[in-house]
Amino acid sequence: MKILVLTGAGISAESGLPTFRDSGGLWHGHRPEDLATPEAFARNPALVLDFYNARRQAVQAAEPNAAHVALARLQASERHKVIIVTQNVDDLHERAGARRVVHMHGSILRACCTACGAAWAASYAMDAEDPCPDCGEPAVRPDVVWFGESPRDLNLIHKAIEKADLFVSIGTSGSVYPAAGFAARASCRGVRTIEINKALSLNSSEFQERREGNATDLVPAWVDELR
Ligand code: APR
Repeated sequence: MKILVLTGAGISAESGLPTFRDSGGLWHGHRPEDLATPEAFARNPALVLDFYNARRQAVQAAEPNAAHVALARLQASERHKVIIVTQNVDDLHERAGARRVVHMHGSILRACCTACGAAWAASYAMDAEDPCPDCGEPAVRPDVVWFGESPRDLNLIHKAIEKADLFVSIGTSGSVYPAAGFAARASCRGVRTIEINKALSLNSSEFQERREGNATDLVPAWVDELR
């Protein structure tokens, strides 16, 4: 079977990384427009960089959980062709051993330059004065997709949805497009859809099947069913 798995912040919640919209989430007490837009970065780069520096530290202190490990095991089993599309900017899928991971919102462990467009691996704290290693300009930012910017690899993702036999969404609230539209896109192409979430999402009604509970319980159980 060809399986496309879409993950959101909920798959990393049990690794201790806050989600965005659950109580105590990142957007409680912060406004996305103050921290996760190009305008916010132009207005106050130090504030935005501090926000991402704190998140990067939390990612580096976190460990992949049983859900990440189960998906990596499924991918490695070769019994099915599995592509993981994640909205998350953490590297917990990769650290669990996953190989084919599409980061449609970029990665907090990479940096890019707003002056020359260079991009590179960067696991260090960033400062507004940091010079770009390519052009030397103090224009370094996290290589993540902010609100108002285009998500990555959409052609690849749409093609994978069309070819999939199964679309599984894990731990996402269905709040942000285009990811929130993938389930409907899959369904209208006759692809079976499953949602794994600890609560109802904004697009739960678009899934043929729902499994409600924690990702660390439900994802390993689902992967075991496929063996
Ligand atoms: N197990 C399963 N699901 C969980 C768990 C868990 N342990 N904990 C939380 N969830 C679910 C919540 O029920 C919710 O549906 O994860 C989802 C988290 O939703 P959001 O915080 O909105 O995160 P996400 O859907 O990934 O946000 C999408 O919004 O702010 C932007 O770029 C950001 O990529 C992010 C995008």
